Amino acid sequence: MKTFLNVQDLGDLHQALAEAQEIKQERFKYVQMGRNKTALLVFFNNSLRTRLSTQKAALNLGMNVIVLDVNAGAWKLETERGVVMDGDKSEHLLEAIPVMGSYCDVIGIRSFAGLVDREYDYAETVFNQFVQYSGRPVFAMETATVHPLQAFADLITIAETPVAGKKRPKVVLTWAPHPRALPQAVPNSFVQWMNAADVDIVVTHPKGYELDPAFLGNAPVEYDQMKAFQDADFIYAKNWSCPGITCPSDYGKVLGDYRDYLDWTVSSRQMAVTNQGHFMHCLPVRRNMIVTDEVIEAPTSLVIPEAANREISATVVLKRILQSL
Ligand code: CP
Repeated sequence: MKTFLNVQDLGDLHQALAEAQEIKQERFKYVQMGRNKTALLVFFNNSLRTRLSTQKAALNLGMNVIVLDVNAGAWKLETERGVVMDGDKSEHLLEAIPVMGSYCDVIGIRSFAGLVDREYDYAETVFNQFVQYSGRPVFAMETATVHPLQAFADLITIAETPVAGKKRPKVVLTWAPHPRALPQAVPNSFVQWMNAADVDIVVTHPKGYELDPAFLGNAPVEYDQMKAFQDADFIYAKNWSCPGITCPSDYGKVLGDYRDYLDWTVSSRQMAVTNQGHFMHCLPVRRNMIVTDEVIEAPTSLVIPEAANREISATVVLKRILQSL
């Protein structure tokens, strides 16, 4: 595997889930595979889980790891071609990328959407520049439009959580309120991966937050959150800003005043109509905004196992990349 961005990059999902369980049983089984190989993890944005779990995954495989926080110690990088660099940015990404590639064997990129120029974000401009100019396999650690390591960890978590009497659990992706504009990467990937998995996915959000059809696929949208939650086995909450599908000029915005949407906060009121549903969120989460204390602290909350499975998803992905070197 030379790039990891979408669910299709991983191939057969049953096989990938079996590999995840194999690694979970024996984390260091492939510790020889990464000997004398170096993973460079490049962060343009903050992280707790991705930073730690991806480093741990590389260590599980015996790799060396270099972490670069672009905004803390490196030269400020210009990312757009054609710009006259007379401002505070001293280095262009187009030189920096091949330089980074010369010090490693694999590169992970975290580079969020700017939420200003939809075309620029949805073209995955920064990620694709790394693919084009680094000469190395490149994997997404949350890019402008996707967060596949998270979605894979979420799928591992769902697959290992039994739901009595159902072959295909009902999984609901629900929008929840947030005071600031957030990217669409997590919901895009979540719905893309759930569409490919053995689950029945339903998406619920207020009008105006329609996800890009390239990710939504055939997933049904139910604008009434309580209806969507009916008999659900898993509730996946996430805020996202306007994807600009129905109104392109609203791309990246919070529509209206978030305080008018506080009835979308996931609470025991909505969870009561589920099938003793499990609560999920990628973290970090704003309590009593996205979800109430009561729901996130309940025994049915899966937020910690999801985060723990980030180590597993990253180990599978790095192993596949090492196998292709
Ligand atoms: N879920 C997730 O990617 O967490 P971080 O932003 O802390 O890495």
